[in-house]
Amino acid sequence: MKIISSPKEMKAFSASARAEGKKIALVPTMGALHHGHLSLIKLAREKADVVVVSIFVNPTQFGPNEDFDKYPRQLEADINNCRECGADAVFTPSVSDIYAPDASTYVVEEQISKELCGKSRPKHFRGVTTVVTILFNIVKPDIAVFGEKDAQQISIIERMVRDLFMDVEIVRAPIVRDENGLALSSRNKYMDKLERIGAARIHRALEATKKMVEEENCRNVDRVKAFVINNIANAKARVIYAEVVDAKTSLPVSELDPGKCRVSVAVWYGQTRLIDNILI
Ligand code: PAF
Repeated sequence: MKIISSPKEMKAFSASARAEGKKIALVPTMGALHHGHLSLIKLAREKADVVVVSIFVNPTQFGPNEDFDKYPRQLEADINNCRECGADAVFTPSVSDIYAPDASTYVVEEQISKELCGKSRPKHFRGVTTVVTILFNIVKPDIAVFGEKDAQQISIIERMVRDLFMDVEIVRAPIVRDENGLALSSRNKYMDKLERIGAARIHRALEATKKMVEEENCRNVDRVKAFVINNIANAKARVIYAEVVDAKTSLPVSELDPGKCRVSVAVWYGQTRLIDNILI
């Protein structure tokens, strides 16, 4: 497995794979890899000849008071995990490799980005779409794999790819959960074991909501939101938002259409911001 930090070298690696007629998959990550990420790498392995994992903690998607500095970094362990999952290359650029000191160009999706997480993290998705475009331009993948825990992020990337005629297929991979149901996230490292057990309540609340919708044949979005909020709330959990959205676009809906919707939530659990969702 190659470890590449320079964009120029990464471009050359991809160009030579393409020249041999190989299909390239990119798994973009910010590192601190967990089993959720590893499932993305394994899926990429099944779908392509060459798998590239990027590890880059992207400063432009963090707000001024967010956790860029303390975001978990464990490059050596990440590289070993990528190797074990059969990746062909790990791309680990530095911030100055990706952004010129006077970089002033951004890619902005202007509809979906304004909803859900976009309301409390106003420039977050601008940073995501910009860095994902940069990574696509460097790696030039045929496919890119993203996890559905970040369902809104995938919807925004799919919209960007469609709107800008980008030649890459976006592959969605299912959420991976721990033994208690907590969706795996690099930010789970901020919590101790007891907190992680407590935070699994978020998933249980989503499951209970799905059951209620099915049993009561409920279509009322306000009822669904109130139900999930009531089920999550406890001393440690503060709901940032709970929304019923279209499963594909992540845009809020006014009536629940079974099989085509998702209930998405963001929660402060103690000092940790968590997101999760369920298809309904
Ligand atoms: O989902 C993430 O880890 C990040 O938002 C991504 C897609 C790697 C962009 O930095």
